[in-house]
Amino acid sequence: MRVVIRVGGSVVASPINTKLISEYVDILKQLESQKHEVVLVVGGGTLARDFIKHVKDLGLNEPQQDTVAITVSRLVAQLFALKLNNTATIPTTLEDVAQMLNKGKRKTVVMGGLKPGITTDAVAALVAEKIKADLLVKATDQEGIYTEDPRKHKNAKKLDHLTFDDLTRLLGQNKHKAGIHQIVDPEAVKILRKNQTKTIIVYGFKPENVLLAVNGEKIGTVIA
Ligand code: UTP
Repeated sequence: MRVVIRVGGSVVASPINTKLISEYVDILKQLESQKHEVVLVVGGGTLARDFIKHVKDLGLNEPQQDTVAITVSRLVAQLFALKLNNTATIPTTLEDVAQMLNKGKRKTVVMGGLKPGITTDAVAALVAEKIKADLLVKATDQEGIYTEDPRKHKNAKKLDHLTFDDLTRLLGQNKHKAGIHQIVDPEAVKILRKNQTKTIIVYGFKPENVLLAVNGEKIGTVIA
């Protein structure tokens, strides 16, 4: 299978967690041995947010803030890529990613952000579109998608399965509530919905959840 794995900066980079990064690299190796082709997309977490603030404090604009956040996400990606492939080369365009996979140069590609004005979720969705991925797994700081933000509502219930229509409705309802937004960026949902990319949201502090999701075990929230 072709799989895009999106690991939240909130999971591996807030602060940088080398133990967790090593565990993810082990999972990537296992996926390689199972003959899957994988693109892993990471975000810059709190380090990216710190840098966004520095750029803001310098009186610079949002695209400039995004640019440094992208650089930080690529720096985090380098940690994965060095440990996994012994390379610090991180693709910076969708074409690069597709070429790396199609030429069979790599079974696993690691990357960060792509361009200002989008989130890493949207990057993962665009990569999935470009490489015609069978599956996108998002490893985040919650067990899945809930009826409401579980950090604010005790009675929030985890949903095991959703359609893209359900998710769009849920995100719409929660428009002004932070938290739900973070779980999947609505811009990313639009792209995933258009391409009907099966998406699974799992708890990222246990990297083996990603393996379970790829292997079709019941885990997290499945959107299809
Ligand atoms: P994210 O919020 O997507 O990454 O990107 P994250 O750190 O993994 O966050 P969680 O774990 O999902 O919460 C951080 C910022 O980087 C910029 C944006 O400013 C975004 O808010 N960015 C990232 C871009 O501008 N373009 C990209 O392609 C990626």
